Amino acid sequence: MKLFEVYPIYDLQPVNAHGAYLTDQSGAEYLDFYGGHAVISIGHSHPHYVYRIEQQLKAMGFYSNSVVNPLQEELAALLGTLSGYPDYQLFLVNSGAEANENALKLASFATGKKSVVSFDKSFHGRTAACVAVTDNPKIRAPINYAEHVTFLPFEDLKGVEAVLSKNETCAVIIEGIQGIAGINTPSEHFLKGLRTLCDQYGVVLILDEIQSGYGRTGKFFAHQYADIQPDIITVAKGMGNGFPMGGVIISPSFEASYGLLGTTFGGNHLACAAGLAVLEILQQEKLIENAQSRGVQLKQLLSKIDAVKEVKGQGLMLGIEFDFPVKSLRQHLLFKEKIFVGSSSDPNILRLLPPLCIGDSEIDQLIEGLTNSLKNEELLIH
Ligand SMILES: Cc1ncc(COP(=O)(O)O)c(C=O)c1O
Repeated sequence: MKLFEVYPIYDLQPVNAHGAYLTDQSGAEYLDFYGGHAVISIGHSHPHYVYRIEQQLKAMGFYSNSVVNPLQEELAALLGTLSGYPDYQLFLVNSGAEANENALKLASFATGKKSVVSFDKSFHGRTAACVAVTDNPKIRAPINYAEHVTFLPFEDLKGVEAVLSKNETCAVIIEGIQGIAGINTPSEHFLKGLRTLCDQYGVVLILDEIQSGYGRTGKFFAHQYADIQPDIITVAKGMGNGFPMGGVIISPSFEASYGLLGTTFGGNHLACAAGLAVLEILQQEKLIENAQSRGVQLKQLLSKIDAVKEVKGQGLMLGIEFDFPVKSLRQHLLFKEKIFVGSSSDPNILRLLPPLCIGDSEIDQLIEGLTNSLKNEELLIH
């Protein structure tokens, strides 16, 4: 059987990873400022994470959601405390798309309505409801088209009100910080306005924190910079540090009933062990505080580089904007400087999504690698 080739891949095979570094099959070491696409939160192969998963696997890897699993409650309690949402409820799933799919479904169940407001350039996943609220027609098959979704620009509170006042909307969904779009942060005024409008019209406010959550921006959730509380928050990526898991964090105003939502693998014993290890390490090693201060440090250093137009984002979710396309620069960083960075749908923006444990030496290496790369005039072609 052949693989169904949907990924354009680099000719590179990492075989080992520790902290913020990867090693390929030839023994070459790479600095990971991409975090496997914002997934690696606590660092690769953290000993406590490995231990927790190993111990759980030795005891029991999986049983279904039809039996008592105290690890789920432990995870919910610790997540509630660390995130500042102790009174919310947790539904565990396996991926980001599945988290958003269930969040949208819950909003629709709760309101009995089906229209959704989403935003220009948003990305919420590839399953049916998620891809319908994702602003990218290229990944939407005919079966995924949905007339009930309105896309609006960020900051357009008047436009949001015009839609919500029709009384057909179940949810407004927005990323804490837009990731794939190239690191766009909704303003505090806009998020507060959305909160007010959703309250006014009885609409569920869903914050997709799949990329921007779990401490990446220097707070547990990016929306906490705006001091609002959504009705539903979705998480994945950093939650399992590579173990596939996601979560729907649900306000106490929603009442659960048996059979309303469900999953075979979500919340399994191994996933909970991974998720607990991540939270324990975030807490013990003060990684959210580290993300905050390293973000400030990185922004200062990056802004001093001449070719850098702007540095966008918060904490360790940063977009570096240039006035030329960055495709060749990214390749140069990877193959010559041995540094992984991310791209985005904006051709001029490099995305930085490193593990939250980076320190001075990783930052120095990135700045040096970027400065060296930018000396190559052929990479700066407009
Ligand atoms: C903001 C956001 N939402 C949803 C998703 C979908 O997550 P998954 O790929 O785990 O389904 C992603 C993935 O990149 C994302 O960045």
